[in-house]
Amino acid sequence: MNISVPRRVTAVAALAALALAGLTGTGASAAPAAVTPPDIPLANVKQHLADLQSIATANGGNRAHGRTGYKASIDFVKAKLDAAGYTTTLQTFTSSGATGYNLIADWPGGDPNQVLMTGAHLDSVTAGPGINDNGSGSAAILENALAVSRAQLQPTKHLRFAWWGAEELGLVGSKYYVNNLPATERSKISGYLNFDMIGSPNPGYFVYDDDPTLEQTFKDYYAGLGIPTEIETEGDGRSDHAPFKNVGIPVGGLFSGADYIKTAAQAQKWGGTSGQAFDRCYHASCDTSANINDTALDRNADAIAYAIWNLSSGTTTPPAGTVFSNDTDVAIPDSPGAAVTSSVTVSGIAGNAPATLKVGVDIVHTYIGDLVVDLIAPDGSVYNLSNRAGGSTDNINQTYTVNASSEVANGVWKLRVQDKAAADTGYINGFKLTFP
Ligand code: TRP
Ligand code: ZN
Ligand code: CA
Repeated sequence: MNISVPRRVTAVAALAALALAGLTGTGASAAPAAVTPPDIPLANVKQHLADLQSIATANGGNRAHGRTGYKASIDFVKAKLDAAGYTTTLQTFTSSGATGYNLIADWPGGDPNQVLMTGAHLDSVTAGPGINDNGSGSAAILENALAVSRAQLQPTKHLRFAWWGAEELGLVGSKYYVNNLPATERSKISGYLNFDMIGSPNPGYFVYDDDPTLEQTFKDYYAGLGIPTEIETEGDGRSDHAPFKNVGIPVGGLFSGADYIKTAAQAQKWGGTSGQAFDRCYHASCDTSANINDTALDRNADAIAYAIWNLSSGTTTPPAGTVFSNDTDVAIPDSPGAAVTSSVTVSGIAGNAPATLKVGVDIVHTYIGDLVVDLIAPDGSVYNLSNRAGGSTDNINQTYTVNASSEVANGVWKLRVQDKAAADTGYINGFKLTFP
Protein backbone atom coordinates (compact mmCIF):
# COMPACT_ATOMS: atom_id res chain seq x y z
CA MET A 1 0.00 0.00 0.00
CA ASN A 2 3.00 2.29 0.28
CA ILE A 3 4.45 2.50 -3.17
CA SER A 4 5.71 6.02 -2.95
CA VAL A 5 7.15 6.24 -6.44
CA PRO A 6 4.55 7.02 -9.08
CA ARG A 7 4.30 4.07 -11.45
CA ARG A 8 4.17 4.43 -15.19
CA VAL A 9 2.71 1.58 -17.17
CA THR A 10 3.04 2.21 -20.85
CA ALA A 11 0.74 1.08 -23.62
CA VAL A 12 3.73 -0.73 -25.08
CA ALA A 13 4.05 -2.71 -21.89
CA ALA A 14 0.35 -3.47 -22.05
CA LEU A 15 0.75 -4.72 -25.62
CA ALA A 16 3.65 -6.91 -24.60
CA ALA A 17 1.46 -8.34 -21.87
CA LEU A 18 -1.22 -9.11 -24.46
CA ALA A 19 1.36 -10.83 -26.64
CA LEU A 20 2.57 -12.84 -23.66
CA ALA A 21 -0.99 -13.87 -22.97
CA GLY A 22 -0.98 -15.41 -26.41
CA LEU A 23 -3.53 -13.07 -27.91
CA THR A 24 -3.13 -11.99 -31.47
CA GLY A 25 -3.93 -8.49 -32.53
CA THR A 26 -3.22 -6.27 -35.43
CA GLY A 27 -3.77 -3.02 -33.64
CA ALA A 28 -3.98 -1.78 -30.11
CA SER A 29 -5.31 1.61 -31.00
CA ALA A 30 -8.86 2.42 -30.01
CA ALA A 31 -9.86 3.36 -33.54
CA PRO A 32 -7.89 1.32 -36.04
CA ALA A 33 -7.62 2.77 -39.48
CA ALA A 34 -9.71 1.06 -42.14
CA VAL A 35 -8.07 -2.21 -43.06
CA THR A 36 -7.47 -3.01 -46.71
CA PRO A 37 -9.03 -6.37 -47.51
CA PRO A 38 -7.99 -8.45 -50.49
CA ASP A 39 -9.95 -8.37 -53.70
CA ILE A 40 -12.20 -11.41 -53.82
CA PRO A 41 -11.70 -12.91 -57.29
CA LEU A 42 -15.03 -13.00 -59.12
CA ALA A 43 -13.78 -15.91 -61.23
CA ASN A 44 -13.39 -18.03 -58.09
CA VAL A 45 -16.86 -17.17 -56.83
CA LYS A 46 -18.29 -18.01 -60.24
CA GLN A 47 -16.46 -21.32 -60.26
CA HIS A 48 -18.14 -22.24 -56.97
CA LEU A 49 -21.47 -21.36 -58.58
CA ALA A 50 -20.68 -23.51 -61.60
CA ASP A 51 -19.85 -26.37 -59.24
CA LEU A 52 -23.12 -25.90 -57.35
CA GLN A 53 -24.97 -25.86 -60.67
CA SER A 54 -23.27 -29.14 -61.63
CA ILE A 55 -24.25 -30.64 -58.30
CA ALA A 56 -27.89 -29.68 -58.88
CA THR A 57 -27.83 -30.99 -62.44
CA ALA A 58 -26.42 -34.31 -61.25
CA ASN A 59 -29.03 -34.57 -58.48
CA GLY A 60 -32.39 -34.06 -60.12
CA GLY A 61 -32.05 -30.32 -60.73
CA ASN A 62 -32.04 -28.98 -57.21
CA ARG A 63 -30.11 -28.74 -53.93
CA ALA A 64 -33.10 -28.78 -51.62
CA HIS A 65 -33.30 -29.95 -48.02
CA GLY A 66 -33.65 -33.70 -47.79
CA ARG A 67 -32.49 -34.25 -51.40
CA THR A 68 -29.16 -35.67 -52.48
CA GLY A 69 -28.16 -32.36 -54.04
CA TYR A 70 -28.13 -30.72 -50.64
CA LYS A 71 -25.77 -33.17 -48.99
CA ALA A 72 -23.54 -33.05 -52.09
CA SER A 73 -23.44 -29.23 -51.71
CA ILE A 74 -22.42 -29.55 -48.07
CA ASP A 75 -19.70 -32.07 -48.91
CA PHE A 76 -18.37 -29.79 -51.64
CA VAL A 77 -18.09 -26.73 -49.36
CA LYS A 78 -16.72 -28.72 -46.42
CA ALA A 79 -13.90 -30.29 -48.48
CA LYS A 80 -12.66 -26.85 -49.56
CA LEU A 81 -12.72 -25.53 -46.01
CA ASP A 82 -10.98 -28.57 -44.56
CA ALA A 83 -8.22 -28.25 -47.15
CA ALA A 84 -7.84 -24.56 -46.26
CA GLY A 85 -7.23 -25.22 -42.57
CA TYR A 86 -10.69 -24.65 -41.09
CA THR A 87 -12.09 -26.66 -38.24
CA THR A 88 -15.41 -27.82 -39.63
CA THR A 89 -18.41 -29.20 -37.82
CA LEU A 90 -21.45 -30.80 -39.40
CA GLN A 91 -24.54 -30.18 -37.32
CA THR A 92 -27.48 -32.42 -38.11
CA PHE A 93 -31.16 -31.86 -37.42
CA THR A 94 -34.42 -33.30 -38.62
CA SER A 95 -37.04 -31.37 -40.55
CA SER A 96 -40.09 -32.72 -42.40
CA GLY A 97 -38.85 -36.22 -41.76
CA ALA A 98 -35.48 -35.66 -43.42
CA THR A 99 -32.00 -35.10 -42.03
CA GLY A 100 -30.76 -31.56 -42.44
CA TYR A 101 -27.22 -30.23 -42.13
CA ASN A 102 -25.58 -27.02 -41.02
CA LEU A 103 -21.88 -26.66 -41.74
CA ILE A 104 -19.92 -24.58 -39.24
CA ALA A 105 -16.33 -23.61 -40.02
CA ASP A 106 -14.04 -22.00 -37.47
CA TRP A 107 -10.84 -20.25 -38.45
CA PRO A 108 -8.35 -21.12 -35.70
CA GLY A 109 -7.27 -18.25 -33.50
CA GLY A 110 -8.66 -14.92 -32.44
CA ASP A 111 -10.42 -14.03 -29.23
CA PRO A 112 -12.88 -16.83 -28.40
CA ASN A 113 -14.96 -14.32 -26.49
CA GLN A 114 -15.47 -12.16 -29.58
CA VAL A 115 -16.80 -14.15 -32.50
CA LEU A 116 -17.61 -12.55 -35.83
CA MET A 117 -19.92 -14.91 -37.65
CA THR A 118 -20.74 -14.91 -41.36
CA GLY A 119 -23.46 -17.12 -42.82
CA ALA A 120 -25.51 -18.05 -45.87
CA HIS A 121 -28.11 -20.72 -46.54
CA LEU A 122 -26.91 -23.45 -48.82
CA ASP A 123 -30.23 -25.11 -49.63
CA SER A 124 -32.34 -24.33 -52.67
CA VAL A 125 -36.05 -24.75 -53.18
CA THR A 126 -37.05 -27.98 -54.94
CA ALA A 127 -38.06 -26.06 -58.08
CA GLY A 128 -34.53 -25.34 -59.23
CA PRO A 129 -30.78 -25.26 -58.58
CA GLY A 130 -30.91 -22.07 -56.47
CA ILE A 131 -27.90 -20.34 -57.93
CA ASN A 132 -28.82 -16.81 -56.95
CA ASP A 133 -30.93 -18.07 -54.00
CA ASN A 134 -28.61 -18.87 -52.40
CA GLY A 135 -25.63 -20.20 -54.29
CA SER A 136 -24.58 -16.56 -54.51
CA GLY A 137 -24.28 -15.97 -50.77
CA SER A 138 -22.85 -19.46 -50.19
CA ALA A 139 -20.17 -19.08 -52.88
CA ALA A 140 -19.24 -15.55 -51.83
CA ILE A 141 -18.71 -16.46 -48.19
CA LEU A 142 -16.86 -19.63 -49.21
CA GLU A 143 -14.44 -17.58 -51.31
CA ASN A 144 -14.10 -15.11 -48.43
CA ALA A 145 -13.25 -17.95 -46.07
CA LEU A 146 -10.64 -19.18 -48.54
CA ALA A 147 -9.26 -15.64 -48.81
CA VAL A 148 -8.89 -15.54 -45.02
CA SER A 149 -6.85 -18.73 -45.31
CA ARG A 150 -4.74 -17.45 -48.23
CA ALA A 151 -3.95 -14.33 -46.20
CA GLN A 152 -3.38 -16.47 -43.10
CA LEU A 153 -5.32 -13.72 -41.40
CA GLN A 154 -4.79 -13.35 -37.68
CA PRO A 155 -7.70 -11.16 -36.70
CA THR A 156 -8.33 -9.99 -33.19
CA LYS A 157 -11.76 -11.61 -33.23
CA HIS A 158 -12.45 -15.25 -33.86
CA LEU A 159 -13.97 -15.89 -37.29
CA ARG A 160 -16.73 -18.42 -37.82
CA PHE A 161 -18.55 -19.19 -41.05
CA ALA A 162 -21.83 -21.07 -41.44
CA TRP A 163 -23.80 -22.65 -44.27
CA TRP A 164 -27.36 -23.25 -43.19
CA GLY A 165 -29.70 -26.05 -44.13
CA ALA A 166 -33.46 -25.87 -44.69
CA GLU A 167 -33.72 -22.09 -44.81
CA GLU A 168 -36.37 -22.46 -47.46
CA LEU A 169 -38.52 -24.49 -45.04
CA GLY A 170 -38.57 -21.61 -42.56
CA LEU A 171 -35.04 -20.83 -41.37
CA VAL A 172 -34.92 -24.30 -39.86
CA GLY A 173 -31.14 -24.79 -39.76
CA SER A 174 -30.21 -21.38 -38.39
CA LYS A 175 -32.97 -21.58 -35.78
CA TYR A 176 -31.67 -24.98 -34.74
CA TYR A 177 -28.14 -23.63 -34.39
CA VAL A 178 -29.18 -20.62 -32.31
CA ASN A 179 -31.58 -22.62 -30.14
CA ASN A 180 -28.89 -25.16 -29.34
CA LEU A 181 -26.22 -22.62 -28.57
CA PRO A 182 -25.74 -22.24 -24.80
CA ALA A 183 -26.36 -18.71 -23.55
CA THR A 184 -22.67 -18.28 -22.76
CA GLU A 185 -21.77 -19.13 -26.37
CA ARG A 186 -24.43 -16.79 -27.72
CA SER A 187 -23.02 -13.95 -25.72
CA LYS A 188 -19.63 -14.43 -27.38
CA ILE A 189 -21.01 -13.72 -30.85
CA SER A 190 -20.33 -10.06 -31.40
CA GLY A 191 -22.02 -9.98 -34.78
CA TYR A 192 -23.71 -12.14 -37.40
CA LEU A 193 -23.51 -11.19 -41.09
CA ASN A 194 -26.01 -12.80 -43.46
CA PHE A 195 -25.85 -13.10 -47.24
CA ASP A 196 -28.91 -14.42 -49.03
CA MET A 197 -29.30 -13.49 -52.72
CA ILE A 198 -26.46 -11.16 -53.60
CA GLY A 199 -26.14 -11.69 -57.36
CA SER A 200 -29.67 -10.92 -58.54
CA PRO A 201 -29.86 -10.52 -62.33
CA ASN A 202 -31.59 -7.12 -62.15
CA PRO A 203 -29.84 -6.05 -58.98
CA GLY A 204 -30.48 -3.56 -56.26
CA TYR A 205 -27.99 -2.75 -53.51
CA PHE A 206 -29.72 -3.26 -50.20
CA VAL A 207 -28.17 -3.13 -46.75
CA TYR A 208 -29.87 -4.65 -43.71
CA ASP A 209 -31.03 -2.01 -41.28
CA ASP A 210 -30.25 -3.59 -37.93
CA ASP A 211 -27.05 -3.06 -35.99
CA PRO A 212 -25.74 0.47 -36.75
CA THR A 213 -22.06 -0.50 -36.82
CA LEU A 214 -22.58 -3.42 -39.16
CA GLU A 215 -24.90 -1.39 -41.36
CA GLN A 216 -22.42 1.48 -41.52
CA THR A 217 -19.59 -0.85 -42.49
CA PHE A 218 -21.45 -1.94 -45.62
CA LYS A 219 -22.56 1.61 -46.37
CA ASP A 220 -18.95 2.78 -46.09
CA TYR A 221 -17.87 0.16 -48.57
CA TYR A 222 -20.51 1.21 -51.08
CA ALA A 223 -19.88 4.88 -50.47
CA GLY A 224 -16.26 4.19 -51.42
CA LEU A 225 -17.48 2.81 -54.74
CA GLY A 226 -19.82 5.77 -55.19
CA ILE A 227 -22.81 3.44 -55.43
CA PRO A 228 -25.99 4.39 -53.59
CA THR A 229 -27.59 1.80 -51.32
CA GLU A 230 -31.06 1.42 -49.90
CA ILE A 231 -32.29 -0.17 -46.73
CA GLU A 232 -33.45 -3.75 -47.21
CA THR A 233 -37.25 -3.81 -46.87
CA GLU A 234 -38.22 -6.89 -48.86
CA GLY A 235 -39.42 -8.73 -45.81
CA ASP A 236 -37.54 -8.23 -42.57
CA GLY A 237 -36.68 -11.49 -40.87
CA ARG A 238 -36.99 -13.49 -44.08
CA SER A 239 -33.58 -15.01 -43.78
CA ASP A 240 -31.14 -16.63 -41.35
CA HIS A 241 -30.18 -13.47 -39.52
CA ALA A 242 -33.62 -13.46 -37.85
CA PRO A 243 -32.91 -16.15 -35.22
CA PHE A 244 -29.72 -14.31 -34.24
CA LYS A 245 -31.47 -10.96 -34.08
CA ASN A 246 -34.22 -12.49 -31.95
CA VAL A 247 -31.76 -13.42 -29.22
CA GLY A 248 -30.13 -10.00 -29.25
CA ILE A 249 -27.09 -10.68 -31.42
CA PRO A 250 -26.19 -7.72 -33.66
CA VAL A 251 -26.92 -8.62 -37.28
CA GLY A 252 -26.18 -7.15 -40.67
CA GLY A 253 -26.12 -8.19 -44.29
CA LEU A 254 -26.56 -7.45 -47.97
CA PHE A 255 -29.28 -8.31 -50.47
CA SER A 256 -29.71 -7.65 -54.17
CA GLY A 257 -33.47 -8.26 -54.35
CA ALA A 258 -35.93 -11.10 -54.90
CA ASP A 259 -39.42 -10.85 -56.41
CA TYR A 260 -40.09 -7.18 -55.71
CA ILE A 261 -40.21 -4.92 -58.75
CA LYS A 262 -37.42 -2.46 -59.50
CA THR A 263 -38.81 1.07 -59.64
CA ALA A 264 -37.89 3.70 -62.20
CA ALA A 265 -35.94 5.59 -59.55
CA GLN A 266 -34.00 2.43 -58.67
CA ALA A 267 -33.23 1.70 -62.34
CA GLN A 268 -32.07 5.29 -62.65
CA LYS A 269 -29.45 4.94 -59.95
CA TRP A 270 -28.51 1.28 -60.33
CA GLY A 271 -29.15 0.54 -63.97
CA GLY A 272 -31.13 -2.53 -65.00
CA THR A 273 -34.78 -2.72 -65.91
CA SER A 274 -37.56 -0.90 -64.12
CA GLY A 275 -40.93 -2.59 -63.88
CA GLN A 276 -39.22 -5.96 -63.61
CA ALA A 277 -38.40 -8.08 -60.55
CA PHE A 278 -34.89 -7.94 -59.14
CA ASP A 279 -34.89 -11.69 -59.68
CA ARG A 280 -37.48 -12.97 -62.14
CA CYS A 281 -36.31 -16.51 -61.45
CA TYR A 282 -36.82 -16.30 -57.70
CA HIS A 283 -37.71 -19.79 -56.42
CA ALA A 284 -38.03 -20.98 -60.03
CA SER A 285 -36.32 -23.56 -62.25
CA CYS A 286 -34.54 -20.77 -64.13
CA ASP A 287 -32.47 -19.78 -61.05
CA THR A 288 -29.42 -21.24 -62.80
CA SER A 289 -25.85 -20.12 -63.50
CA ALA A 290 -27.36 -17.76 -66.07
CA ASN A 291 -29.38 -16.00 -63.36
CA ILE A 292 -26.51 -13.96 -61.95
CA ASN A 293 -25.41 -10.39 -62.43
CA ASP A 294 -21.61 -10.59 -62.27
CA THR A 295 -21.12 -6.97 -61.28
CA ALA A 296 -23.44 -7.24 -58.28
CA LEU A 297 -21.91 -10.55 -57.23
CA ASP A 298 -18.40 -9.11 -57.52
CA ARG A 299 -19.21 -5.99 -55.53
CA ASN A 300 -21.03 -7.88 -52.81
CA ALA A 301 -18.27 -10.48 -52.49
CA ASP A 302 -15.76 -7.66 -52.03
CA ALA A 303 -18.08 -5.90 -49.57
CA ILE A 304 -18.08 -9.06 -47.46
CA ALA A 305 -14.28 -9.03 -47.37
CA TYR A 306 -14.33 -5.37 -46.40
CA ALA A 307 -16.69 -6.16 -43.53
CA ILE A 308 -14.85 -9.25 -42.30
CA TRP A 309 -11.43 -7.62 -42.39
CA ASN A 310 -12.56 -4.42 -40.73
CA LEU A 311 -14.97 -5.82 -38.17
CA SER A 312 -12.59 -8.51 -36.95
CA SER A 313 -9.47 -6.43 -36.54
CA GLY A 314 -10.74 -4.20 -33.77
CA THR A 315 -9.29 -4.07 -30.32
CA THR A 316 -10.13 -7.01 -28.11
CA THR A 317 -9.43 -5.51 -24.76
CA PRO A 318 -9.61 -1.80 -24.25
CA PRO A 319 -6.01 -0.61 -24.34
CA ALA A 320 -4.60 -0.31 -20.89
CA GLY A 321 -3.33 3.11 -21.81
CA THR A 322 -0.69 4.92 -19.88
CA VAL A 323 -1.22 4.95 -16.15
CA PHE A 324 0.30 7.32 -13.63
CA SER A 325 -0.47 6.56 -10.03
CA ASN A 326 0.45 7.40 -6.47
CA ASP A 327 -0.41 4.90 -3.76
CA THR A 328 1.13 6.80 -0.87
CA ASP A 329 -1.39 7.28 1.94
CA VAL A 330 -2.27 10.88 2.76
CA ALA A 331 -4.15 11.54 5.99
CA ILE A 332 -7.21 13.78 5.68
CA PRO A 333 -7.50 15.89 8.86
CA ASP A 334 -10.92 16.31 10.37
CA SER A 335 -12.83 19.56 9.88
CA PRO A 336 -11.84 22.29 10.33
CA GLY A 337 -8.64 21.21 8.66
CA ALA A 338 -6.55 22.05 5.64
CA ALA A 339 -7.06 20.49 2.24
CA VAL A 340 -4.54 17.76 1.46
CA THR A 341 -3.26 16.52 -1.87
CA SER A 342 -1.77 13.49 -3.53
CA SER A 343 0.27 14.16 -6.69
CA VAL A 344 1.30 12.36 -9.83
CA THR A 345 3.76 13.67 -12.37
CA VAL A 346 2.68 13.05 -15.94
CA SER A 347 5.42 12.96 -18.55
CA GLY A 348 5.90 11.78 -22.10
CA ILE A 349 2.36 12.55 -23.26
CA ALA A 350 2.29 14.83 -26.29
CA GLY A 351 -0.16 17.72 -26.38
CA ASN A 352 -3.27 18.04 -24.29
CA ALA A 353 -4.95 15.62 -21.93
CA PRO A 354 -7.89 13.64 -23.36
CA ALA A 355 -11.58 14.43 -23.19
CA THR A 356 -11.92 11.12 -21.38
CA LEU A 357 -9.22 11.33 -18.77
CA LYS A 358 -9.86 8.55 -16.26
CA VAL A 359 -9.30 9.66 -12.69
CA GLY A 360 -9.09 6.81 -10.23
CA VAL A 361 -9.91 7.90 -6.68
CA ASP A 362 -9.45 5.64 -3.68
CA ILE A 363 -10.32 7.34 -0.39
CA VAL A 364 -10.86 5.54 2.87
CA HIS A 365 -13.26 7.54 5.04
CA THR A 366 -16.18 6.79 7.36
CA TYR A 367 -18.47 9.59 6.09
CA ILE A 368 -17.89 10.63 2.48
CA GLY A 369 -20.56 13.34 2.69
CA ASP A 370 -17.90 15.31 4.60
CA LEU A 371 -15.58 15.50 1.61
CA VAL A 372 -14.92 17.88 -1.25
CA VAL A 373 -12.76 16.10 -3.83
CA ASP A 374 -11.15 17.91 -6.74
CA LEU A 375 -8.74 17.16 -9.54
CA ILE A 376 -6.20 19.95 -10.03
CA ALA A 377 -4.56 20.26 -13.44
CA PRO A 378 -0.88 21.28 -13.77
CA ASP A 379 -1.91 24.90 -14.42
CA GLY A 380 -4.14 24.97 -11.31
CA SER A 381 -7.50 24.47 -13.05
CA VAL A 382 -9.96 22.76 -10.71
CA TYR A 383 -12.27 19.92 -11.73
CA ASN A 384 -14.68 18.96 -8.98
CA LEU A 385 -15.17 15.20 -8.68
CA SER A 386 -17.33 14.99 -5.57
CA ASN A 387 -18.90 17.78 -3.54
CA ARG A 388 -19.97 16.35 -0.21
CA ALA A 389 -21.98 13.66 -1.97
CA GLY A 390 -22.87 10.25 -0.60
CA GLY A 391 -23.90 11.10 2.96
CA SER A 392 -22.78 8.60 5.59
CA THR A 393 -21.46 6.10 3.04
CA ASP A 394 -17.98 4.74 3.72
CA ASN A 395 -15.13 5.23 1.23
CA ILE A 396 -14.85 6.57 -2.30
CA ASN A 397 -13.45 3.98 -4.68
CA GLN A 398 -14.39 5.22 -8.07
CA THR A 399 -13.11 6.15 -11.51
CA TYR A 400 -14.29 9.51 -12.76
CA THR A 401 -14.10 10.57 -16.40
CA VAL A 402 -12.97 14.16 -16.78
CA ASN A 403 -12.93 16.23 -19.95
CA ALA A 404 -9.42 17.55 -19.57
CA SER A 405 -8.94 18.38 -23.23
CA SER A 406 -8.11 22.01 -22.51
CA GLU A 407 -5.21 21.03 -20.23
CA VAL A 408 -1.64 20.30 -21.22
CA ALA A 409 -1.06 16.68 -20.27
CA ASN A 410 2.47 16.84 -18.89
CA GLY A 411 3.06 18.22 -15.43
CA VAL A 412 1.99 17.65 -11.85
CA TRP A 413 -1.67 16.69 -11.36
CA LYS A 414 -3.16 16.65 -7.89
CA LEU A 415 -6.05 15.02 -6.13
CA ARG A 416 -7.22 17.51 -3.50
CA VAL A 417 -9.44 16.48 -0.61
CA GLN A 418 -10.87 18.60 2.17
CA ASP A 419 -13.01 17.46 5.07
CA LYS A 420 -15.86 19.93 5.70
CA ALA A 421 -17.65 18.39 8.70
CA ALA A 422 -16.40 17.34 12.13
CA ALA A 423 -16.22 13.81 13.55
CA ASP A 424 -15.33 11.31 10.81
CA THR A 425 -11.84 11.07 9.34
CA GLY A 426 -9.86 9.07 6.83
CA TYR A 427 -7.08 9.14 4.23
CA ILE A 428 -6.32 9.15 0.51
CA ASN A 429 -5.40 5.56 -0.30
CA GLY A 430 -4.60 6.00 -3.98
CA PHE A 431 -4.82 8.37 -6.94
CA LYS A 432 -4.44 7.28 -10.55
CA LEU A 433 -4.66 8.94 -13.94
CA THR A 434 -5.15 6.85 -17.10
CA PHE A 435 -4.38 8.38 -20.49
CA PRO A 436 -6.04 6.37 -23.29
N1 TRP B 1 -34.46 -16.84 -49.29
C1 TRP B 1 -35.21 -15.67 -48.92
C2 TRP B 1 -36.66 -16.09 -48.88
O1 TRP B 1 -37.10 -16.78 -49.76
C3 TRP B 1 -35.03 -14.55 -49.92
C4 TRP B 1 -35.43 -13.24 -49.38
C5 TRP B 1 -36.60 -12.63 -49.58
C6 TRP B 1 -34.67 -12.42 -48.57
N2 TRP B 1 -36.60 -11.43 -48.95
C7 TRP B 1 -35.43 -11.28 -48.33
C8 TRP B 1 -33.40 -12.53 -48.02
C9 TRP B 1 -34.94 -10.26 -47.54
C10 TRP B 1 -32.92 -11.50 -47.24
C11 TRP B 1 -33.68 -10.37 -47.00
O2 TRP B 1 -37.36 -15.78 -47.93
ZN1 ZN C 1 -32.74 -17.45 -49.81
CA1 CA D 1 -15.06 14.72 9.26
